[in-house]
Amino acid sequence: MKNQKLKDVLNLLHEQRGFDFSGYRISMLERRVQKRVFATHSKDLNEYITFLNHHPDEFDNLIDVFTINVSRFFRNSLSFEYITKIIIPNLFLTKTRASDDILRIWSAGCSFGEEPYSIAIILNELLKKEESNIKPTIFATDIDKKAIARAAVGTYGFESIKKVKYGILEKYFTKEESQFKLNQEIKNRVQFSFYDMLDKNRAVPPESIFGGFDLILCRNVLIYFEPEFQKIIFNKLYKSLNKNGYLILGEAEVPIDEFKHKFKRENKCSKIYRKIG
Ligand SMILES: C[S@@+](CC[C@H](N)C(=O)[O-])C[C@H]1O[C@@H](n2cnc3c(N)ncnc32)[C@H](O)[C@@H]1O
Repeated sequence: MKNQKLKDVLNLLHEQRGFDFSGYRISMLERRVQKRVFATHSKDLNEYITFLNHHPDEFDNLIDVFTINVSRFFRNSLSFEYITKIIIPNLFLTKTRASDDILRIWSAGCSFGEEPYSIAIILNELLKKEESNIKPTIFATDIDKKAIARAAVGTYGFESIKKVKYGILEKYFTKEESQFKLNQEIKNRVQFSFYDMLDKNRAVPPESIFGGFDLILCRNVLIYFEPEFQKIIFNKLYKSLNKNGYLILGEAEVPIDEFKHKFKRENKCSKIYRKIG
């Protein structure tokens, strides 16, 4: 019964705003919708549905609690150390040897942009240090259009930048009152667009045209989905990754069973994988 009411809420949201959250973990949705039940002083889900019908703006609040945007620059420092010291130099070398100067990176579920911008900063540093001719493109996508719009602005509060090293902060950010504004050179390196990881019609973000990524970061996104929907996402990640390409997951995430043998774990301390075949 409780689940049926939750399904009614999801159906309403789908009808009204086109967002389909039916593949998300039920326990997560239940917890989150309760926050809105409480905030709107509704007695239960029944009353909340009535509230939604009378206050269509509430759909925005519901989308906000379902799309968890928590992120920060250089989140999980170990993964970023590995990207800086091993992955990017390795990709530069392989590309140079193959006389291929194009490097394609995808941040899937990029939230407010902290993740793809962290990669852009690393690339900027390494490209200059190694005087490399590699031309990187970073595609960054999310289902949350408001998050993408904020990402494109590139202004962050202290919580987001607290893991940024002093030298990098000085070099790439300008402090404006309590906000930190990312510089244009880094912003220009990332292409943001809307893309639903469960989109049945498009296997890759349309802006990327064909996928062919050398590195994909899909961190702290899979945890929100039921296993059968994780499979849809994994299929996309696998197909759009080049052979020997790198896949980086969130700390609480692992490849689902069907894909375990298709990836080799690259590093014991972080969720970094390499596509085998
Ligand atoms: C917790 S954030 C992760 C941000 C970043 N990857 C990190 O690890 O710091 C999860 C992001 O996944 C996005 N997301 C959730 N469902 C999605 C879907 N179906 N397609 C694309 N993005 C989705 C949310 O909007 C949110 O911005």
